[in-house]
Amino acid sequence: MEEKILSIRRAAREAISVDATNLKELDAIRVKFLGKKGELSQLMRGMGQLDEDARRNIGKLFHAARTEIEALIADKTAELKSKELAEKLATEKIDITLPGRRVHSGRLHPLTLTLNRVKEIFLQMGYTVEDGPEVETDYYNFEALNLPKDHPARDMQDSFYITDEILMRTQTSPVQARTMERHSNNEPIRMIAPGRVYRRDDYDASHSPMFTQVEGLVIDERITFGDLKGTLEYFLKQMFGEKARMRLRPSFFPFTEPSAEVDVSCVMCGGHGTDCKVCHGSGWLEILGAGMVHPDVLSMSGYDPKVVSGFAFGLGIERIAMLKYGVDDMRLFYDNDVRFLNQF
Ligand code: PHE
Repeated sequence: MEEKILSIRRAAREAISVDATNLKELDAIRVKFLGKKGELSQLMRGMGQLDEDARRNIGKLFHAARTEIEALIADKTAELKSKELAEKLATEKIDITLPGRRVHSGRLHPLTLTLNRVKEIFLQMGYTVEDGPEVETDYYNFEALNLPKDHPARDMQDSFYITDEILMRTQTSPVQARTMERHSNNEPIRMIAPGRVYRRDDYDASHSPMFTQVEGLVIDERITFGDLKGTLEYFLKQMFGEKARMRLRPSFFPFTEPSAEVDVSCVMCGGHGTDCKVCHGSGWLEILGAGMVHPDVLSMSGYDPKVVSGFAFGLGIERIAMLKYGVDDMRLFYDNDVRFLNQF
C-alpha cells in the first residue's frame, strides 16, 4: 500500500507539472487524483482491512500525499492563471494611437449671448424681465401706444396682420402697456421685455422680417430725461466698453414725448470716422429709440401722469450683436451655419 501511495504521488507530480497546460486540464487531473472516485480515494477504501498501527501509519501517508498534491495544484493554478492573463493582454491589446471620437459640445447662439448680456446689465440695475405675446392685438401693439387707427405713424412699421384686430407684434412696446395694466396705484415699474418682433421688411444684410428687440420701461415719481440719459449711457459703456460715447438726436415716436434717437460712437473706428465702412465716416451708429412716456400712454394704462412720469427705450439685439462681434450681414444670425456659429 505504501508503494501504491508513493507511485500515486509521483504520477500526480508528473501530471501536474507536465500534462497540465491549461486550467481545464489541471482540473481534470485534480479529479483524477483527489476526486471522490479518484485514485487516492479508491485506495483509501482498502484501509479497513488493516490493523490499527498500520492504519495510523498509512493514514499519515495518505494525508501527506493529499497535502502535497493539493499544494502542487494550487501553485499550478496560480501559474496557469497568470499565463492566461498574459496571453489575454497580448491578444486584446488596445491601439491607443488610433484617433479618438470627438465629443462636440453645443454653444449659445450669438443673439442669445448678446441678449443674456443685456439682461445681465439691467438685472444688476434692479430691472425685472417681462414677457408678452408675439401674436398681439391691434390695441396693445398700436392703440394703447397712442397710435389710433389711421394714425400715419403706423406706416413706420409695415405689419403682418392675421385678422383686422390681430397681428404679429411690430415692436416690444406693447409689453409696456401690458405691464402697466398689471399694476395699480401708480406703483413704480422698472422692467425690460426682450422678444421677437415682425415687420414686412426686405431680407437683406441689415433688414429682416423678424428680429429681436429689448424694451425698457421705468415709471416712478420724478423720473426725468436725465435718468433716461444716465441709464442708457451706463448701459452702452457696460456693453461696448468705457470708451463708448453716446449722442442723442431729436426724434418722434407716438408713445414718447420728447423722443430721441440714440447713437453710440462707432465701435469700429472709435468715432473718428475716417474711411470707416461701418459708420460711413460719421463716427456714430444709431443704436436705439427712446423717450419720456407720453402722458396719454400712462393714463390709458391706468397711471396718473400728474403723479408719475417715466422713460422708455427700445433696442435691437441683432444690431448690437453685429457691432459687438463685427458681423456685417444680419442674415448670418438666421442661416445657422455651424461654421459661423462655432466662432462664438
Ligand atoms: N418701439 C420703438 C421701435 O420699435 C422703439 C422705442 C421703444 C422708442 C420705446 C421709444 C420708446 O421703433
